[in-house]
Amino acid sequence: METDFLIIGSGIAGLSFALRVSGLGKVVLITKKERVDSATNLAQGGIAAVLSREDKNEYHVHDTLVSGAGLCDIQVVKMVVECGAQRIRDLIDLGVHFVREEGGGGDLDLGREGGHSQRRVAHAYDLTGREIERALLEAVKKNPNIEVYENFTAIDLLISGKNTTNERCIGAYVLEEDGKVVPYRARWTTLCTGGCGKVYLYTSNPDISTGDGIAMAFRAGAKVTNMEFVQFHPTCLYHPSAKNFLISEAVRGEGGVLVDVDGNRFMHKYDQRGELATRDTVARAIDKEMKERGLDCVYLDIRSKGEDFLHKRFPTIYERCRDLGINIAKQPIPVVPAAHYMCGGVLVDTHGRSSVDGLMVLGESANTGLHGGNRLASNSLLEAVVYAEKSYQFCRDNREYIFSRELPTVDEWSAGEAIDLDEEILINHNWDVLRRTMWNYVGIVRTTKRLLLAKQRMSEILQEVEQHYRDYYISASMIELRNISLVAMMIIEAALQRKESRGLHFVTDYPDTRDDYLCWNIFARGQTNAEWAVRLVDKRAL
Ligand code: SIN
Repeated sequence: METDFLIIGSGIAGLSFALRVSGLGKVVLITKKERVDSATNLAQGGIAAVLSREDKNEYHVHDTLVSGAGLCDIQVVKMVVECGAQRIRDLIDLGVHFVREEGGGGDLDLGREGGHSQRRVAHAYDLTGREIERALLEAVKKNPNIEVYENFTAIDLLISGKNTTNERCIGAYVLEEDGKVVPYRARWTTLCTGGCGKVYLYTSNPDISTGDGIAMAFRAGAKVTNMEFVQFHPTCLYHPSAKNFLISEAVRGEGGVLVDVDGNRFMHKYDQRGELATRDTVARAIDKEMKERGLDCVYLDIRSKGEDFLHKRFPTIYERCRDLGINIAKQPIPVVPAAHYMCGGVLVDTHGRSSVDGLMVLGESANTGLHGGNRLASNSLLEAVVYAEKSYQFCRDNREYIFSRELPTVDEWSAGEAIDLDEEILINHNWDVLRRTMWNYVGIVRTTKRLLLAKQRMSEILQEVEQHYRDYYISASMIELRNISLVAMMIIEAALQRKESRGLHFVTDYPDTRDDYLCWNIFARGQTNAEWAVRLVDKRAL
């Protein structure tokens, strides 16, 4: 298989980039499940941008920087905010139906979420991601230059000229739906594989979020940064039959309050912004209340808004809760925090380029510098569309560079002495131990002791998984486990390096924020895959 652009992942970043570069060459987009299986599809709240007369770019920049706890790249924040409104207009032109204000003036109805000083979240009720994904997929379907392959899983990136000055990415080995492994050679490869929420036992993420892009890019030699900053969404539905179900931050934006089992509000004890404090603060406050008082959950009370409003504004949440026996107009909603978003990721420049030539990374797998130590709500969809355009601009302006180079031949995949894995339990057990260890030892509030224990367990899992990877025929579940165990180790190592508390990273042994830690954590690979080092460096030195 040979193509101009290979894109891995079918969320907002992958589809937006595919549509833009399809004018430059042939695009092959692979996705490891069905094309709609993406975190984008589950995104409820919306996409933030400066869209009202009351709002200003500097307010959005300020809110993003405050949330990011000193680790945002200010130039990147300004650039993303400045491009935001135009990218939303592009989505509207593509056919995305954002909700408009009642009264016929045509202005967008803007939601509010934690950490935002203004109403600036364009939304499609609580189905924003699904609506964006629908419009993008429809456009992709009509585009003759884009081929989409479902149930195709990337294993590792193809790197030519390894350890020479000509080292570059030329595609990926792909496990096709029928079990064959095929090298997909490409002039330009873009990873849009989303986050890694599945590293934790409880997450709002879909099953696909196994850190594939981060792990593949790292094994290929790309720099990976700030992996300690895992965002926990404060309010996921707490119910035995509800897997991954988010109660959007927009519910708090519309007046929802957090209460304990006796109906008492508690957020003002922790932050004067109350329920609209940034996510790190709200998730930690809930965690503290639950742990100190032995509670299974807290409650989000939005009864003040009434049935008609709630049904119209939050149709998915209203109906899902109703199906589980909770009428949100009459009962507070039981909620708990759960892993939601990776703020770190593969280091990229302002055009989405990683430190490996020929390899771009977009969306949640990338660290652009926008989110710093804590992402502001609804800034992630924004980042994806802004960077899809910026990356396209690079490809357009460097067409000559991309298209003039020979695509070297590559070795066929060799399974070596591998045999069939006849005991799936070898995979499942490690998945289970990994996710529990991460939840219990590397969660919202960390201690050095627990982090060290987690490191010990994860080293064993990593070794065992690498051994299985060599000994047995490859499978999609083995690929995911291999990726997520590497990403888990990165989260632990990065958390151990940062001996302070900042943004989403809170360690009880080091509760203060320290100026000498105003820097980024960076992983760089050694000569072999087993050798790797993490160190804290000044962002300017990256
Ligand atoms: C939400 O609706 O609360 C999620 C939005 C986000 O993660 O930015």
